[in-house]
Amino acid sequence: FKSTAGKDKNFVSTSSVPEFLGMLEHPRKIIMLIRPGKPVDDFIKQMEAHLSPGDILIDAGNSFYRDTQRRATALKKQGIEYVGLGISGGEEGAFFGPSLMAGCSDKAWKELKELLTGIAAVADGKSCCARVGTDGAGHFVKMIHNGIEYADMQIIAEAYAYMRDGLQMTPDEMSRAFERWNTTPELGSYLIGITANILKKKDADTGNYLVDMILDTAGQKGTGKWTSEAAFDLSVSTPTIAEAVFSRIVSALKEERMEAYELLPGCEVKELGRVSRTQELEKLKHAVTAAKLCVFAQGFSLITTAAKSFGWKIDPAEIADIWQGGCIIRAAMLTDIAKAYRQDPKLENLLLSPVFRNLLASVNSDWRNIASYCIRSNIAIPAISSTIAYYD
Ligand code: 6PG
Repeated sequence: FKSTAGKDKNFVSTSSVPEFLGMLEHPRKIIMLIRPGKPVDDFIKQMEAHLSPGDILIDAGNSFYRDTQRRATALKKQGIEYVGLGISGGEEGAFFGPSLMAGCSDKAWKELKELLTGIAAVADGKSCCARVGTDGAGHFVKMIHNGIEYADMQIIAEAYAYMRDGLQMTPDEMSRAFERWNTTPELGSYLIGITANILKKKDADTGNYLVDMILDTAGQKGTGKWTSEAAFDLSVSTPTIAEAVFSRIVSALKEERMEAYELLPGCEVKELGRVSRTQELEKLKHAVTAAKLCVFAQGFSLITTAAKSFGWKIDPAEIADIWQGGCIIRAAMLTDIAKAYRQDPKLENLLLSPVFRNLLASVNSDWRNIASYCIRSNIAIPAISSTIAYYD
């Protein structure tokens, strides 16, 4: 690292925990960015003996929020401040500023606020960093961010399926459609933008579109599954996030799917007949908009319910603010989501906000139209159709 990205920068490397800790000022602020689960517990064990009361240990990985709550409680007994810090932004975020969701005590936040708000992305002149509650709150909010990310990606994949199989569009044509969507206040977002980019990408060796050469199977690290489990635990309905997790599971069963395709009737996509592509794309845009809004509604409901249950002082408008820059689900729609919660901080469900009622009315029939066409034509749309069921 020091000879590549860290070259000529002010990084110091150390090779043991005591050496590393010995170089830090008190109270020490230590950020761990390692694989969640056992590695975090193992590393805490290594550190523990060398830490002093007042030190702040920050877990910035995608840890399970219940683990963070357990670790925070255990370390508190030794006077050590344990912080669960949700970070979103991937490798770009590492260079240009991520979105940061901190769960910690007042005392730890006082020490960290300046440091963390200083490294976060900036959107609308505001730092995309907030303290969202104590102990596991930061990791909980990041987990929901990822659940929304899973569902957003599934909705995009379903829009792609309709464009490809229903409208017979080439990747280049699809890319242009996503590019146009990306300029709109309803759908402008990081994920739509990178979809437009990847669709036009060609493989250097064969000249084929890259998307056609990528195996249609996906793995998962677990945050979408945890979100769905939390929804069951807290009695919140988040069907679209669950459908996205199930779709990933099914996508990984490539052989079984290929076998089923040969054996089961009704797998071939039925022709759409003569339609106006421009009109269909507009309808599809409406369906994606409505679906996306329902996913945010599900995610925010889970956050506000968890906040009540765990006693976290969460401001949903502030979460919408810090998701507007740096993170993977950043989207223009979050501006209106923040507005909806500022108008009514006690809003039970985003769909009920006056901010979104006109939008929902204007997209309602196209949303159903696209879904019913896909179902009749054998195009799988588990996420989009689940949003209609959610709404109904
Ligand atoms: C981010 C991402 C990042 C990653 C997740 C999900 O916000 O930077 O959410 O955390 O995309 O780990 O990974 P999987 O999709 O592989 O489960």
